[in-house]
Amino acid sequence: MTHKILVLPGDGIGPEIIAEAVKVIDVLKSRHGLDVELDEAAIGGAGYDAAGHPLPEETLAKARQVDAVLLGAVGGPQYDALERALRPERGLLGIRKELGLFANLRPALLYPELADASTLKREVVEGLDIMIVRELTGGIYFGEPRGICTLENGEREGFNTLVYSEHEIERIARVAYETAMKRGKRLCSVDKANVLEVSELWREVLIRVGREYPEVELDHMYVDNAAMQLVRAPKQFDVIVTTNMFGDILSDAAAMLTGSIGMLPSASLNEKGQGMYEPIHGSAPDIAGQGMANPLATILSVAMLLRHSLGNAELAERVEKAVGAVLRQGLRTADLAKPGESAVGTAAMGDAVVAALG
Ligand code: IPM
Ligand code: MG
Repeated sequence: MTHKILVLPGDGIGPEIIAEAVKVIDVLKSRHGLDVELDEAAIGGAGYDAAGHPLPEETLAKARQVDAVLLGAVGGPQYDALERALRPERGLLGIRKELGLFANLRPALLYPELADASTLKREVVEGLDIMIVRELTGGIYFGEPRGICTLENGEREGFNTLVYSEHEIERIARVAYETAMKRGKRLCSVDKANVLEVSELWREVLIRVGREYPEVELDHMYVDNAAMQLVRAPKQFDVIVTTNMFGDILSDAAAMLTGSIGMLPSASLNEKGQGMYEPIHGSAPDIAGQGMANPLATILSVAMLLRHSLGNAELAERVEKAVGAVLRQGLRTADLAKPGESAVGTAAMGDAVVAALG
């Protein structure tokens, strides 16, 4: 059966890194029997430019029809002045919500070759292998009411709502426990239960669902402590499960443990197993168009796509091994290079991965 993949390059460095991921897919098709059909559509600022909306109807309609979506990145300063509903980020949040992609898997894995690229000491990060399970369609990102209003005294007030219903907590908890069962069977739930009622409920549900997974050891950690522990002793973690915003923040911190935010892929899955795959980094407008962005997080997102949406663990591993091989060869994009070390560009890195695929 031919699988369908929708490619959404987006903005900034998005099109450049996606081009390298597509090179990888093309080689898997021509040399390794991968049977996929690619289509492309606009999202984010590119969606606004093409159709006046960050999530054009055509894009969403196409996304609903495919097995998986591969996304670059969205956002750019030229869109900052647009009204909020038309900004690029709304396209990304919109497609997550519309497709029901509630489970966001963000693996922070240190390639041994990059132990010295991290700003943390080698002994702190060597062997690091964490999976962050971030809730992606609820919490303060989507809670109502939200807005900016003007009070009677003329002062303006901004407000958002952090809300989680039991079923939302339950389903992300289940994904987290299932993930832990396939790994080290240790789950750390990150919350702010010393302050927030919603966290109290979060904890309660995590404990309740945990009764179905007696083999998994559950721990709770406040988010401030978790942020500290991530930079103090990150190897204590196996699987972390947390809310939308805490997960956003902690995954950026975890990314730096692996040497660069340019290394972290992600998978966002819905209840049907349909998925969207994207690097966790942004559109990096400051380096867009210069051919210097690191395409590896996007290429590793293709590996996650192969594994989670196409059920092809063999090709997923082939891609991951190819990435390891180019790092062993010493290739470094600018974000990974040490001072004085020469860096390769986006396309050269992509070509090297393609060559290493065999
Ligand atoms: C991420 C990004 C997005 C988020 C932004 C671009 C809306 O930071 O995927 O981590 O906050 O979820
Ligand atoms: Mg983020």
